[in-house]
Amino acid sequence: MNSIPAETPRPPDFAAVRALADPDMRRIDALIRARLASHVVLINQIADHIISSGGKRLRPMLHALAARAAGYRGDQHIKLAAVIEFIHTSTLLHDDVVDESGLRRGKQTANALWGNAASVLVGDFLYSRSFQLMVELDDMRVMRILADTTNTIAEGEVLQLLNIGNADVDEAAYLAVIERKTAVLFAAATELGGLLGNLPEDQLAALRHFGMELGYAFQIADDLLDYTGDAATLGKNIGDDLAEGKPTLPLIYTLERANANEASALREAIRRGGLDSLDHVIHEIRHSGALERTHQCALAHALAAHKALAALPASPWRDALATLADYSVQRNS
Ligand code: IPE
Ligand code: IPE
Ligand code: MG
Ligand code: MG
Repeated sequence: MNSIPAETPRPPDFAAVRALADPDMRRIDALIRARLASHVVLINQIADHIISSGGKRLRPMLHALAARAAGYRGDQHIKLAAVIEFIHTSTLLHDDVVDESGLRRGKQTANALWGNAASVLVGDFLYSRSFQLMVELDDMRVMRILADTTNTIAEGEVLQLLNIGNADVDEAAYLAVIERKTAVLFAAATELGGLLGNLPEDQLAALRHFGMELGYAFQIADDLLDYTGDAATLGKNIGDDLAEGKPTLPLIYTLERANANEASALREAIRRGGLDSLDHVIHEIRHSGALERTHQCALAHALAAHKALAALPASPWRDALATLADYSVQRNS
């Protein structure tokens, strides 16, 4: 995968894609807000806190664009996009508890403000609210995809938990985690767009493959940003992964090329977790070529995503999907 020469993509024009998707995104956001409501005040507070803090709304946008690229002219993608964003948001609430993160979308995390128990429970509320919305669509194919997807995400999170502090995690084991915890939701988002448009099987599979590859690229870029990003732009703290003892690709690549002394220091940093060695680890990542290699790996997945799109008829929506694959790698937030 790393040997695939990466094309030099044009800077992705996220703003143009946003403008194209804007009419749908406004309706999706309105529905998300309308369906957040609960009789329980604390649920409203926490759900409103995380939803109002923003977020890129990338998954609902991909779903809406995929539906349009598939020629869909109805309304169901609005609801399905809200379902997908609710699932994503609930995983964020849970993830920040597990990762003990303090910053999300530029604000203090729900766990920092209200504690772990409240965050987990409101995550469950959003998760089950997504099911309520989903069944309104009354489509067994949609329910099957989303049931499988959410189950796989949970597997990915547990697999990742098992890898914490383990410096023997290799690239294959890392990819197995990110496919489950991240890529499958992107794959579901784009496949479901195609499903609404009643695409033939081969094009459906292509849209799913596109979302999966974009999802890989997106998470690999996220793991890079965890070492190289700027907290103010990213809206998340840097170094969360190392603090947690999470062996992600930049570290895995650095370890692969480290000499014995260096390797044992890095392995110890992963085992111990914490941020004491963050500066040292960043220095090693930079000087081992791991940064470049990780970026190339993300680019290779974005390129695979591009290739998958060739199965779809040309349209501005298809171009927008392609742009989002590039954006997923080159983003800084
Ligand atoms: C964060 O996803 C979780 C990952 C899979 C890395 P996003 O970066 O899409 O989060 P928001 O929704 O924009 O805040
Ligand atoms: C993504 O992994 C987790 C989910 C899929 C929810 P991260 O732990 O890297 O996500 P961030 O960096 O906290 O957003
Ligand atoms: Mg996290
Ligand atoms: Mg991260």
